[in-house]
Amino acid sequence: MQKIIIQKISKTLAQFKLIGLVLLLAASNEAKAQVDSVKAFEFLSKGDKQTKQALEFKNGAVVSAHPAATEVGVAILKKGGNAVDATVAVQFALAVVYPNAGNIGGGGFLIYRSAKGEINSMDFREKAPALANRDMFLDANGNAISEKSKEGHLAAGVPGSVAGMAELHRKYGKLKWADLVEPAYQLAKNGFKITKMQARELNRLKQKFQQFNPLGTAFVKNEEWKEGDLLVQEELANTMSLIRDKGRAGFYEGQVADFIAEEMKRGGGLISKEDLKNYKAAWRTPIIGQYRGYKVITMPPTSSGGIALVQLLQSVSQYPLSKWGHNADSTVQVMIEAERRVYADRAKHLGDPDFWKVPQKELLEPAYNSARMSNLNWNKATLSTDIQAGEFAKKESEETTHFSIVDKDGNAVSLTTTINTSYGNYVVVKGAGFFLNNEMDDFSVKPGTPNYFGLIGYEANAIAPRKRMLSSMTPTILEKDGKLAMVVGTPGGSTIITSVFQTIVNVVDFGMDMQTAVNAKKFHHQWLPDITNLEPEALNEVTQQKLEAKGYKFDRRGSIGRVDAILLTKKGTFQTGADPRGDDTAGGW
Ligand code: GLY
Repeated sequence: MQKIIIQKISKTLAQFKLIGLVLLLAASNEAKAQVDSVKAFEFLSKGDKQTKQALEFKNGAVVSAHPAATEVGVAILKKGGNAVDATVAVQFALAVVYPNAGNIGGGGFLIYRSAKGEINSMDFREKAPALANRDMFLDANGNAISEKSKEGHLAAGVPGSVAGMAELHRKYGKLKWADLVEPAYQLAKNGFKITKMQARELNRLKQKFQQFNPLGTAFVKNEEWKEGDLLVQEELANTMSLIRDKGRAGFYEGQVADFIAEEMKRGGGLISKEDLKNYKAAWRTPIIGQYRGYKVITMPPTSSGGIALVQLLQSVSQYPLSKWGHNADSTVQVMIEAERRVYADRAKHLGDPDFWKVPQKELLEPAYNSARMSNLNWNKATLSTDIQAGEFAKKESEETTHFSIVDKDGNAVSLTTTINTSYGNYVVVKGAGFFLNNEMDDFSVKPGTPNYFGLIGYEANAIAPRKRMLSSMTPTILEKDGKLAMVVGTPGGSTIITSVFQTIVNVVDFGMDMQTAVNAKKFHHQWLPDITNLEPEALNEVTQQKLEAKGYKFDRRGSIGRVDAILLTKKGTFQTGADPRGDDTAGGW
């Protein structure tokens, strides 16, 4: 049997040029491999096929946006690495094989829960450069020059991912740092075969890559990309080798810092060598909420996600959703009305807590959130123009990516990371080979003016030097009866919060298994614009007509969220949900 397992792993990994490395890593624990891993790697070998059934593993699981990154994470777990070791390895692997969102040129958030129940959260969100200013994206008439905050050098915040991983590893890692970065180096140096979805995206953005980068950059070529093309990233391999050998200094100082500073000079960007050297990731106290017997451990500001998620759960907890049924008209109505109210609060009250006093305690008061629902009119949609943010006495492309990991001991990491929209600001740092973020657009570039995601913000999220821009990323872990219950998160810009919300409700209220909860079609409302986005088939015709008769407006949207999650089953196995909307892949052993 062991021989069969290794043969199957080999067959899959040949695609990603990792055979030698992973066989080496797997060999030490080969004897412990379970039958389940055969099932998983069979799935991995199917590449971009959609998964319909939840997979279950006994000794640890990884769910990420790309099969090669999942493979790397599973190999680290098998080698005896803990969830944090696998997290570091998957984050760097995604920076190579999922360059539209996996990154070293961006930032993110994570929630950690140890097997013993210690919880922590880390904010490695990008920061505005020291030379940034409040009106930097306005023209002489005070109007927002919208493309400047979304494309090109000025759109980039100071990246936080490498600092975040180094600090995470320092505090909780077990295996050697170099061994965790090595797989990413190998993938960049030897190349990997791109998926069908990746070929489509690279072709779609060809003109943008050419606009901002010279020929010779790994992503710039004249021919069309095809599924199975080998993407080799030599400059990125060199950067990964420096990070592998020097840790955070390999990115924030020396050659890579010089490359970033030169790139800024070439394109009129603001990030300085001083900004890079000064960047620090921040440990923060997680937000804790309760929902129908589950403890919800989620991301505090600089993300808006955790507060908003707990507000949403509190807002609907007074209603019998399980009796009404999944996506039944009453269920959808209360969820939309909750979303409308919570996103109004988000616009006014949430921003970087190092710069803005967020009324966290007040927003998380169950009585406040249940009272906010008291003017729900069952016969008529509330108008968003009639909803304002709550007032408190004086006394935050969708191309982000999420992964969830649990190791054999039950240590868990939920991590969401981003360069904002797909391929960030489209600028590949010359010499260093990675895309920079366009996260400055997540600030309110002008109060009341919507950002890329249509989100409105005000003073709380205005640009200031060294300030972090508000995010919607919502990495979350659930506990039940003091034990790990679920690890969940997703990309999706403003839809992150509502996708995590619906996934939790799907499991807790509607008893779905992890994969079914992830597959389920979603909807999204964010206060303004006053419209509910719907995935195809999210609502049946009758339900939609009933709600339209009450004044609800709907718009079709291709897909909402890309949730990667793990659920602890009653048997004690790790049940996975890998989103079929992408190349997302579950693995484990
Ligand atoms: N860049 C999307 C977010 O952080 O919410």
